[in-house]
Amino acid sequence: MRAIAVAEFGAPPELMDLPVPEPGPGEFLVHLRAAGVNPFDWKVAEGILSGVVRHGFPLILGNDGAGTVHSVGEGVTGFHPGQKVYGQFMRLPLGLGSYSEYVLATAEDVVAPMPEGMLFTGAAAVPTATMAAFGLVEAAKVDAGQCVLVVGATGGVGQSAVQFAADRGARVIATAADPQDQAWMRRLGAEEVIDHTAGPVAELLLDTRPEGVHTVLDLVDDAAGVARLLPAVHRPGGTVASTQGVLDPADLARRGITGINFRSRGSAALLRTLADLITAGRLHVHIDHEADLAEAPSALERLRAGRARGKTVLRI
Ligand SMILES: NC(=O)c1ccc[n+]([C@@H]2O[C@H](COP(=O)([O-])OP(=O)(O)OC[C@H]3O[C@@H](n4cnc5c(N)ncnc54)[C@H](OP(=O)(O)O)[C@@H]3O)[C@@H](O)[C@H]2O)c1
Repeated sequence: MRAIAVAEFGAPPELMDLPVPEPGPGEFLVHLRAAGVNPFDWKVAEGILSGVVRHGFPLILGNDGAGTVHSVGEGVTGFHPGQKVYGQFMRLPLGLGSYSEYVLATAEDVVAPMPEGMLFTGAAAVPTATMAAFGLVEAAKVDAGQCVLVVGATGGVGQSAVQFAADRGARVIATAADPQDQAWMRRLGAEEVIDHTAGPVAELLLDTRPEGVHTVLDLVDDAAGVARLLPAVHRPGGTVASTQGVLDPADLARRGITGINFRSRGSAALLRTLADLITAGRLHVHIDHEADLAEAPSALERLRAGRARGKTVLRI
């Protein structure tokens, strides 16, 4: 089967011809038709989980995918051949991932039936980023009437975080530089958009909204970047949540702010919830870049360069 893999940590991802895995008891084989690309994918290729989890090499990259159940092993219930499924398929110890024609899964994995009527590419764009956005908004206890700043709003996580926060009745301020992206953010529910390339975001925000915001959902900044946002956060009582793990919650608590270093935990149940929201038209996951599987290395580079506008997806 064709797959994009690395021979070792730090090696360039390349197209390889690898054996199709055989489903054992409790496992099923999925014929993947699309893979979603996330920043986590290149971080894993560089060894972010080295020493934490065993990795099999060559290591096929990718977590998010969508496809059709091809065959099921002994004892599998709830999944059957021909069923369209989507979810997270990274199995590092086996060297398996979603940038591949086939992958193994079990009923305990984060895999669920695909949203009705959705294309494989659309479904593959959802799992990691949208589950993270859902969990982040929940962890930050975003509520009706609160003012919420989303920093990194135009990326895979951000586009969904804006929608979930607005759906909860919050007044959302999003970051976006390009006028087209600013209009897109407003369509997703943002009340105001700040061009983060025009100056310090906190200053620009306080110019129009001197009372500041209750919550910051920060998807991109390092510790220094977050520190520059703090003057715009209510205290006491404000909340800052980061996907980058850069906060010092004890220090923030001393300043009257709740700090959350968010770690996403996906589940099949959450995938089912997202599928329902998508089917009901309450959640839109925008794909801005589609490429063929063989083009995965350049798609990863593009993401790494920070040019994401929504999601990147590979056609398999
Ligand atoms: N902790 C967790 O559990 C968890 C879960 C999911 C994701 N993450 C992490 O969260 C981050 C975001 O993920 P993603 O999938 O959304 O990434 P992405 O799709 O690559 O999006 C990043 C977005 O942020 C924008 N951006 C970059 N720097 C910015 C700045 N200083 N101010 C405002 N916007 C900025 C980029 O646009 P411009 O280039 O125009 O600025 C881009 O649209 C990644 O680091 C990912 O690894 C963590």
